[in-house]
Amino acid sequence: MKKLIIANWKLNPQSSAEAVDILDFLSSSIQDFAVKDNFAVIFCPPYVFIPKVASTVESSPLRSISHIGAQDLAAQDSGAFTGEVSGSMLTRFGVQYVIVGHSERRYKMGETDEAIHEKIKAALRNELVPIVCIGEADRDGNWNDFIRGQCEGAFMGLTGAELAQCIVAYEPVWAISSNPNAKPDTPDSAVEAVRIIRSVLRRISGEDNICPVLYGGSVSSSNVVDFVGHPEFDGALVGGASVKKEEFAKILRLVSEIKS
Ligand code: 13P
Repeated sequence: MKKLIIANWKLNPQSSAEAVDILDFLSSSIQDFAVKDNFAVIFCPPYVFIPKVASTVESSPLRSISHIGAQDLAAQDSGAFTGEVSGSMLTRFGVQYVIVGHSERRYKMGETDEAIHEKIKAALRNELVPIVCIGEADRDGNWNDFIRGQCEGAFMGLTGAELAQCIVAYEPVWAISSNPNAKPDTPDSAVEAVRIIRSVLRRISGEDNICPVLYGGSVSSSNVVDFVGHPEFDGALVGGASVKKEEFAKILRLVSEIKS
């Protein structure tokens, strides 16, 4: 299976010209390794840059390795929901993936497990792959119960076939680079969380390894191989480093060199 690198641009960059500049830089740096078929990259820009990012990727060497994602979607498909963007609108713009339940939406925008569950269903009914974020705020005594609960809240009630359409990102909140004192998790400790996540998915679906599980949190060129090259991780969700063009090009090159 291809390793997946998700570029979550969050509220960056500030203009579509800057977005194109990042993509142009990546295009020129990946020319020699874009032919590798061991990985794929999913760009998740802010909504307003999606058309420009999609058309720029389409007409560049990035095309062979890239897909377009969004950072969120509405739980509803239409109606009186000011400010929302629906799954069907996203699909019409060539979006294939959508991040759901990012911790910044859970903690800064108050998204609940119920809302996240509804958004996963909205993504699936609109043929979008939900990239569902799971992660504890602190590694305190109950962190494993917390992860289990978040995972159940998101996925309980889905069928095995629906779960097989999802991607899960284990992203501990304390490891996200924008948080005070953030530091990346270690692969060994993140694996403990991934095993909890996989056990919930197995209980719901009855199957092992039903969907890819990624790691996110301060991923950089110094640690990406430790995570993405580890057999328990199917890829990485990259925030801050994904809008630093030189650093992200380095990350992609390192991932392209990982032997499967
Ligand atoms: P950083 O890679 O900046 O820690 O962000 C992680 C993240 O939140 C990606 O969704």
